[in-house]
Amino acid sequence: MTTMPTTEHAVTPTLDLTWVRSQFPSLAQTVNGHPAAFLDGPGGTQVPQRVIDAISNYLRRDNANTGGAYATSRNTDAMLAEARAAMADFLNCAADEIVFGPNMTTLTYAMSRAIGRDLGPGDEILVTRLDHDANVTPWLALEEKGVTIRWAEIHKEDCTLDVEDLAAKLNSKTRLVAIGYASNAVGTINPVKEIVRLAHSYGALAYVDAVHYGPHGLIDVADLDCDFLVCSTYKFFGPHMGVLFGKREHLARLRPYKVRPLTDAVPNRWEWGTLNHECIAGITACVNYIADLGRHTNPQAATRRAAIVAAFEVIHRHEYGLMQRLITGLSKIPKIKIYGITDPSCFAWRCPTLAVRAVNQNEGNTPLALATKLGDRGFFTWDGNYYAQNLTEHLDVEKSGGFLRIGLVHYNAAEEVDRLLLALKQILS
Ligand SMILES: Cc1ncc(COP(=O)(O)O)c(C=O)c1O
Repeated sequence: MTTMPTTEHAVTPTLDLTWVRSQFPSLAQTVNGHPAAFLDGPGGTQVPQRVIDAISNYLRRDNANTGGAYATSRNTDAMLAEARAAMADFLNCAADEIVFGPNMTTLTYAMSRAIGRDLGPGDEILVTRLDHDANVTPWLALEEKGVTIRWAEIHKEDCTLDVEDLAAKLNSKTRLVAIGYASNAVGTINPVKEIVRLAHSYGALAYVDAVHYGPHGLIDVADLDCDFLVCSTYKFFGPHMGVLFGKREHLARLRPYKVRPLTDAVPNRWEWGTLNHECIAGITACVNYIADLGRHTNPQAATRRAAIVAAFEVIHRHEYGLMQRLITGLSKIPKIKIYGITDPSCFAWRCPTLAVRAVNQNEGNTPLALATKLGDRGFFTWDGNYYAQNLTEHLDVEKSGGFLRIGLVHYNAAEEVDRLLLALKQILS
């Protein structure tokens, strides 16, 4: 277990955006003569040069399978151990509680099948209306075994989770609560620690989807006390991979569907087939980038975990300013409706991920049309449901194109927000 972070040293109050942007070569691109503005972080973030280097260096030098009695294979084993240690620092757990997989969805299906082995009629699982489908459908699949799925509803007016409804649906039959840390569609942050506590009070497991929260806030699985937490490194400046944290006792107790020659050791018994080694090499580089960002603002950070804590303090401050600017600006465009939290006193409960729609769709401004017009001007936004389909159906926007999503991360600049607002006004006028 890594030591707990300390934040007693003063942290420089602002993010060094010039340093940050210099790390990401792709940010310098242009589209039709316009500077590219990457507002598509929720779909996947850009990567710093060191991630690109780590991937290509692995392929150039160490490309091998694991467990062989020769140099490149041993280097691969060492590289995997390093990446596990890096992710353990990122999530605040032990290295053997880290499982690598192709993506969050695949890992969640693996875990739902293993957990479902012991479930049947009379057992219940609680999912939420706010979640990405990857934390819903793998649990719904257990209906085949007679498991009852219950749904926690949302407050439609601000797209926050109705925690009272969630609590009311827990009972002695609840075996697992599947909860998102933050919504990839409307940006809502859920009170995860409280929900984990509630789940445990009924003897249920807590399975947290932190994919959307990962780039925005510090994750501390020890503090959350969750049983499982999943995230995807491509959402926080790393390669296309998924990572699962599981408490060691669960990773040892549950029975994975695995092939016989694969070791039964934790965590490898959950890692099926040959992993994407080059991308795992990139994961260490991405965690080290975040830690270096922390050290850049707080050189006193003594451990990698402390540096990660420092990084998220400055990331949060920067993103918060951008979010205020974006929401204030969007609120002044009468033809735009924002979904999710807009009350500044509640901004602590949202990420800088904005779902909007043009008020009058008859003018041809569907989310796809807006995203296309913005794309032509160099603004990379997303349209549709982004797999948060239970939410778009519930809000009755699914059939008419879902939302336009504007997603900010720490490498975005206030100037990009201002240009986006201007472009939106022009498009809608
Ligand atoms: C909140 C959330 N959960 C889960 C996923 C699925 O992640 P992956 O692509 O790693 O399967 C996504 C992907 O967009 C997401 O945003």
